[in-house]
Amino acid sequence: MRVFAQPPLVMSGQGHGCDYHAANYLAQNITSEEVDFGGGAAKAASEEHIPVLLREVVHSLIQADSGTYVDGTYGRGGHCRSMLARLAQDAKMIGLDRDPEAVSAAQELVRADSRFSIFHARFSQLADVLDQAGIVGGAQGILLDIGVSSPQIDDASRGFSFNADGPLDMRMDPTQGLSAAEWLNTAGEEEIAKVLFVHGEERASRRIAKNIVAARPLSTTLQLADIVEACVPRNRNNLGKHPATKTFQAIRIFINAEDRELREGLQHAFAALAIGGRLAVISFHSLEDRQVKHVFRALSRPPSMPRRLPVRYSEQGISARLIGKSIKAQSDELATNPRARSATLRVIERIC
Ligand SMILES: C[S@@+](CC[C@H](N)C(=O)[O-])C[C@H]1O[C@@H](n2cnc3c(N)ncnc32)[C@H](O)[C@@H]1O
Repeated sequence: MRVFAQPPLVMSGQGHGCDYHAANYLAQNITSEEVDFGGGAAKAASEEHIPVLLREVVHSLIQADSGTYVDGTYGRGGHCRSMLARLAQDAKMIGLDRDPEAVSAAQELVRADSRFSIFHARFSQLADVLDQAGIVGGAQGILLDIGVSSPQIDDASRGFSFNADGPLDMRMDPTQGLSAAEWLNTAGEEEIAKVLFVHGEERASRRIAKNIVAARPLSTTLQLADIVEACVPRNRNNLGKHPATKTFQAIRIFINAEDRELREGLQHAFAALAIGGRLAVISFHSLEDRQVKHVFRALSRPPSMPRRLPVRYSEQGISARLIGKSIKAQSDELATNPRARSATLRVIERIC
């Protein structure tokens, strides 16, 4: 049995998200800071997805072809399958996803490849997952491709898209926490404005929050999109960008507690590495990338001490080394998957 529905691992909170990669839903004019949650006009639920920075992830993460690897954000398994293709028969791959639909989609791979196991869990619960899977000695490589997936955005019933009407949900794990509608219908105006400002950098946050409160109860995505559109004029320099982009991003991040999940996930993932193991993180907007950069820097920089002091890494308090600089998609990938242009990959290696 290698499928783990895991009530013991699911805490009462929620999780996180980011975004995914499907060429077919990329609006022309979104900036690298913002993810388009338009999802395409009235699109049916889709299983399509294109993993971003695939060759860079496989190249930087896989140094030995055996040992334990972790895909902390399975999605539809694009990265996971490519990593498995590079690993030997005695390797293990542990997959996690907080979305029950992703876990269900992973069953096919569970059946096809005995090296692979899937857990319904958040990556902040990685330590418990590895315990439950009986992994000792840490992981050789861990990938976090943070955000939401194309199938999540493209399925209007998940409530992530401002183009296709659906219930205002936005939970990556619909079995946990409040839906976006439940929160918006009960939160104070100040709280809503703060979320829109902090997580969406939305300048019209107060006006939008006021109109949301006046229009309650809200139940659908288009209701929310219309309210925002009435408050935020379309950007004349960027007509392809829907005025509700920032609001949807902010609410999604809040509902899924994505910032907390990333903070805790980075710590747990790093702690779960074997010495010499690597952690690769793909993020999709600057707030997330900044968080990853700061954590990686803190792990890899010594506290200031007299120069040329003959001390070991462990004595200096350094536990990691950065593997190269941040990596962006190259032109060949951008040509086939323009969505990859907002992706940034950072890799770190545990040294003690
Ligand atoms: C960008 S997609 C990953 C795509 C995947 N790399 C692939 O190639 O198919 C992100 C996935 O991570 C999941 N996810 C987001 N935050 C998570 C978290 N904190 N813990 C576990 N899964 C998470 C989402 O549900 C989604 O399925």
